[in-house]
Amino acid sequence: MADRLDIVIFGATGYTGKYVVKNATHMCKDRKMKFGIAGRRKEALDAVVKEFASDIENVPVILADVKDEESLKKMTKRAKILINCCGPFRFYGEPVIKACIASHTHYVDVTGEEQFMIEMQLKYNEAAKEAGVYMVSACGFDCIPSDLGIIFTQQKFEGEINSIEIYMNMWSSATTNKKGPLFNYATWESAVHSLGHAEEVSELRKKLYPTKLPEFTPKLTRKMMHQSDVVKGWSTPFASADRSVALRTQRFLYDEYKQRPAQIQVYLTIKSFLDFLMMVIGSMLILILTRSSYGRNLLLKYPALFSAGFASHESPNPEMLKSTHFSFTFEASGWTEKLAEATDKHTDSPNKKVITRVSGDSPGYELTSIMVILSAITILNETDKMPYNGGVLTPGAAFGRTSLIEQLIKHNVKFEMISSIEK
Ligand SMILES: NC(=O)c1ccc[n+]([C@@H]2O[C@H](COP(=O)([O-])OP(=O)(O)OC[C@H]3O[C@@H](n4cnc5c(N)ncnc54)[C@H](OP(=O)(O)O)[C@@H]3O)[C@@H](O)[C@H]2O)c1
Repeated sequence: MADRLDIVIFGATGYTGKYVVKNATHMCKDRKMKFGIAGRRKEALDAVVKEFASDIENVPVILADVKDEESLKKMTKRAKILINCCGPFRFYGEPVIKACIASHTHYVDVTGEEQFMIEMQLKYNEAAKEAGVYMVSACGFDCIPSDLGIIFTQQKFEGEINSIEIYMNMWSSATTNKKGPLFNYATWESAVHSLGHAEEVSELRKKLYPTKLPEFTPKLTRKMMHQSDVVKGWSTPFASADRSVALRTQRFLYDEYKQRPAQIQVYLTIKSFLDFLMMVIGSMLILILTRSSYGRNLLLKYPALFSAGFASHESPNPEMLKSTHFSFTFEASGWTEKLAEATDKHTDSPNKKVITRVSGDSPGYELTSIMVILSAITILNETDKMPYNGGVLTPGAAFGRTSLIEQLIKHNVKFEMISSIEK
């Protein structure tokens, strides 16, 4: 292990991979860590080093192709941890995970693909534990702010949480002359396939958790179109991976530490009613189209048309990305008193409400790259604060007891306590 590079960035020629390389140059330099970059095209990789890492003395370039198992093993053997930016992960992810386990290499990625994550946990959790390596997916904007935001809320609550409702809001401070898509095509492609196969996820989840959790009451119901007291605007359930990942984290906390799991709902909030209405209609159309292969092909062929310009075959405009901002507002409801056992029933209604918020700038690629690098560094430095000796884990399960939230705060992600009210 000692002769390995600290980090290898795979998919370094991609849109996300380049951001990771750009930020790794200073984040690794500050910590005296060595990183290399990997991908399938030598010339393109050399160009990435020239553009983003020319002031670093030696950045090894490693050739590896997802379709060539041996090349993947040679690559993963060179690293203590691999940052995987090759997506869609449903197509490219599994061989990389296998190679990491075979070569005893830790792994993080930026996927937001629920089915891929659950499948990898089902197939490789035991093998990863045996190999003594951590495999943590969703270490980008999907799903670090939501999953660690819940952990932060649980740490601050002082009592026992019954439920957390999360309101996600994204907005732009761009002037009108800044135009262009906000998502790269691979993100759109990943989302279209994820939504198209969403029905397969519940079967996988049943396999992952053959025993059901006990029922926790009062039951949190999912609100459809509504206006919340804690955020301005209109909210509706949000079909991202955030809820799925959060529920897996909560299940882990219950199984492992006997902590009462929070019931979770995630909403997307939009200020203007007209924009909200257009988003709802657009999302419904996309959901219908993802149900058939013909519809999915249409969506993949005309991303700009169906995403109202948010995604396209063109790369996003970095200036537009810089002026994008986000916030996740967490409305936690529960009791001032914590009972002895997680399954003990409260006889009174919830009497405490805590509001917290996680917010930041440029989440899509800039912040995603910082989050995944910090996740990798946390695994390298803080395995003593992580569960077991390895395994396929969610960010909340893996990093809940590490310093990752403090590290994120140092990199301009705000974690705030907004209010705490007791009845
Ligand atoms: N969760 C989040 O917040 C978040 C944020 C950003 C991105 N993402 C996800 O990250 C993934 C990548 O997105 P992107 O926009 O960066 O995509 P991209 O620009 O298309 O990059 C894909 C990368 O994969 C590489 N690749 C493809 N096939 C390969 C193969 N057979 N062998 C080796 N490398 C191969 C490409 O190499 P070549 O250059 O040689 O083609 C490229 O480096 C997507 O799944 C996206 O959803 C998630």
